Amino acid sequence: MDLTVTNGSGEPVDPVLERFHLLVNAPALFNALTTALELDLFTALSGRPASFDELLGTTGLPPHSLRVLLHAVCSTGLLVRRDGRYENSGVAEELLTGDGPDSWRDILIGWREVYYPAFARLTEALEAGTNTALSAFPGHEATLYRRLAHRPELEAVFHRAMTAFTLRSVDALVDSGQFLTTRRLLDVGGGDGATSARLVARHPALVSTVFDIPTVSRLARRTTAPDLGDRVTVHPGDLFTDSFPEGHDTVLFSHVLEIFSGEQIVTLLAKAYDVLPSGGRVLVYGYNVSDDETEGWYSARLSLYLNALASGQGMAYPACDYERWLRQAGYGQVRTLKGLPYEHGLHIGVKP
Ligand SMILES: C[S@@+](CC[C@H](N)C(=O)[O-])C[C@H]1O[C@@H](n2cnc3c(N)ncnc32)[C@H](O)[C@@H]1O
Repeated sequence: MDLTVTNGSGEPVDPVLERFHLLVNAPALFNALTTALELDLFTALSGRPASFDELLGTTGLPPHSLRVLLHAVCSTGLLVRRDGRYENSGVAEELLTGDGPDSWRDILIGWREVYYPAFARLTEALEAGTNTALSAFPGHEATLYRRLAHRPELEAVFHRAMTAFTLRSVDALVDSGQFLTTRRLLDVGGGDGATSARLVARHPALVSTVFDIPTVSRLARRTTAPDLGDRVTVHPGDLFTDSFPEGHDTVLFSHVLEIFSGEQIVTLLAKAYDVLPSGGRVLVYGYNVSDDETEGWYSARLSLYLNALASGQGMAYPACDYERWLRQAGYGQVRTLKGLPYEHGLHIGVKP
């Protein structure tokens, strides 16, 4: 399917204009995509093109509803209609047919349920300079992470989405060479332990302690830790009010520091410094906006979400900010592995 937008004479138009047309229709098309995922449409079509009537049976939708949905998904190019039968595009076949812990289904449902309702209040939040969209969640805590404890089912949806996206982006960290000499890792803000689980699976000499808030530690105990014996343990606590456990040679902050302000980041890096031995390393993994702060769709989405909803501050900071904060906290041999998949970077510092 040719997705190029053309003018009346069939000539290609400005790609920014093409992007504009996609952008203004994107919220509706995003929801059509998540609906198709919930109805297992892409899985049903995996390697097996089907007719409209066959899809009626698969989805259980009324005929007119299915007609409207198929049109929407075909318009994105993710489904293709050929000789009256529907089939997955190559991208749909590769990304949308699985239902494992790294599925895009879990990612997009989490974004729809937790992130995207908040974006309708973006103007208000940016004008206020804080996460006013958090008022849609019960409780008085200042961050989404803490307030989700009042809604355990949504907290589970949120962490499933976060884990799925992390599993899609974590291999660059796991295979970075930084864990070849690590023996005892402290995974600060380690969520449900999915990153630690993958790290210990790939590095047999490694054990990890996952530090997170108590409700998330309970989730980690239920979902991840049981399969890993004593190689991943959980340590409930608050990043700012509790001290970090000692006895680790490497501290990892994966997708955590971007939640906070520069000042708080230096505080957290210094807390890690205090519990590391001389020669111990700190690793900061996450999204980086480009140095000139003009590129990165994933980074932009994250930064807006953090400010409207999650913490009211933070962003996908550029690599140069993290390097400066690492030096400020006392680390030496500071460097960055740039250009990792999904706009990620890995920042490394060593305690002298
Ligand atoms: C974006 S998630 C990252 C999870 C995991 N490290 C990953 O890469 O997928 C941020 C994590 O920080 C945790 N967190 C946020 N504020 C915290 C706090 N004050 N104390 C402890 N953990 C906190 C959240 O519960 C959440 O699991």
